[in-house]
Amino acid sequence: MMRSPLLTERFDDALVWASQLHRFQLRKSTPIPYLSHLLSVTAIVIEHGGDEDQAIAALLHDTIEDQGVWDNEIAERFGAEVAALVRACSEDEEWSMAPWRVRKGEYLDHLASAHMPARALLVSAADKLHNARSTLGDLRRHGEKAWTRFSGGRDGQLWFYETVAAVLCERLPGDLTDELHDTVADLATFPRGQIGLLEGIATTRAIRRFRPDPIPERDLARILFAASRAPSGSNRQPFRFLVLRDGPRAREAKTLLGDAFRSGWGAKRSADGYESGSGADQRSPKARMAASIQRFVDRFEEIPVVVLPCLVRYRSPFPTEGGSVYPSCQNLLLAARALGYGGVMTVWHELVADQLRALLGIPEDVLIAATIPLGRPIGGHGPVRRRPLGELVFEDGWGTAAGWAVDPPGTRFTGTGPRHPRE
Ligand SMILES: Cc1cc2nc3c(=O)[nH]c(=O)nc-3n(C[C@H](O)[C@H](O)[C@H](O)COP(=O)(O)O)c2cc1C
Repeated sequence: MMRSPLLTERFDDALVWASQLHRFQLRKSTPIPYLSHLLSVTAIVIEHGGDEDQAIAALLHDTIEDQGVWDNEIAERFGAEVAALVRACSEDEEWSMAPWRVRKGEYLDHLASAHMPARALLVSAADKLHNARSTLGDLRRHGEKAWTRFSGGRDGQLWFYETVAAVLCERLPGDLTDELHDTVADLATFPRGQIGLLEGIATTRAIRRFRPDPIPERDLARILFAASRAPSGSNRQPFRFLVLRDGPRAREAKTLLGDAFRSGWGAKRSADGYESGSGADQRSPKARMAASIQRFVDRFEEIPVVVLPCLVRYRSPFPTEGGSVYPSCQNLLLAARALGYGGVMTVWHELVADQLRALLGIPEDVLIAATIPLGRPIGGHGPVRRRPLGELVFEDGWGTAAGWAVDPPGTRFTGTGPRHPRE
């Protein structure tokens, strides 16, 4: 059966027109024809589900600002919808005389405002993602001096990108804005590998999608070394780490775990009503988390490395014993993040703990404290969202917010789960 094509002759016309209009324009301080940017932005829009109007708007998104094309010409050629999208992605002529930072501030207000149509957000996000990717490439090729090419320098550009990413992540949640967020984070922490301790702590998220590539042993050793530096009661170091890669027993254990994870998630998915409320909207954070966990459990066996952090018990179980193993789990996840890997803390092994014990020879007095899958992430970490500090930090008594405990500007929030009735 012939399906009607997404892109028709209208798109072909826009492609030729964009090429003609920008014929003599180059990417800033480079010999690269400007068209490369327009084609890249259009590709991103198409890859993220854009329709023909959005794809045409992507091709033409700089024609008003850079080529002085009038809105009505775009409307005559491609319709009012495309003209409105291109207008929404353009800086207003009124701002053009203002200093760079003021102009960008106006643009950011516009992006966050109701005047920015929802359908234009995809084009803007693709535009900003391609610019951020190009800047990151420039930094890798030319080092820090690449910043000097851009108005506002490093500080100004980072302020702009970080604010754009924050606004777009809020208004258009999804893979595209997650990638924008992460690319901007890479810009801020360039050169790679020099992510600050606080930055790493504040940006490490649960990663559930992995590339199949194995983790080299020297990286695994560094990750587990970091885990082993964790504190424990009396420095007894009761933590042990059982690593599962691709040996026959490891594969058998991964199969056991995969089945356990699928039933653990199946039960949680219906008990916690992941399909109801906001979960009915496929774009909501709840539905996206459900889809990501479903994919995670469906492909559990393909995860390159699974670590079972264990606790060697030296007395009968007591409420705070986890305090001597869970700090090591977080160290492990942070070290993985620092080396470009990701992972997630999980507990669904409980359902097959006895079978795992038998298969892997884990003694009776050893608790399997967690299951941590690890690998190179597919997609990004995206922004970490938690409750505002004001809801989490009390002073001098339960429920009394500490006035000084405020989140840094641009912090993202979420309020999953019930609050205590006395808060
Ligand atoms: C004690 C604990 C148990 C967890 N158990 C599971 C689990 O069984 N399965 C899972 O997919 N994620 C599990 N998680 C991951 C949490 O869902 C995740 O850390 C949380 O939603 C925050 O995600 P974010 O950092 O991406 O915002 C667990 C996390 C913790 C700390």
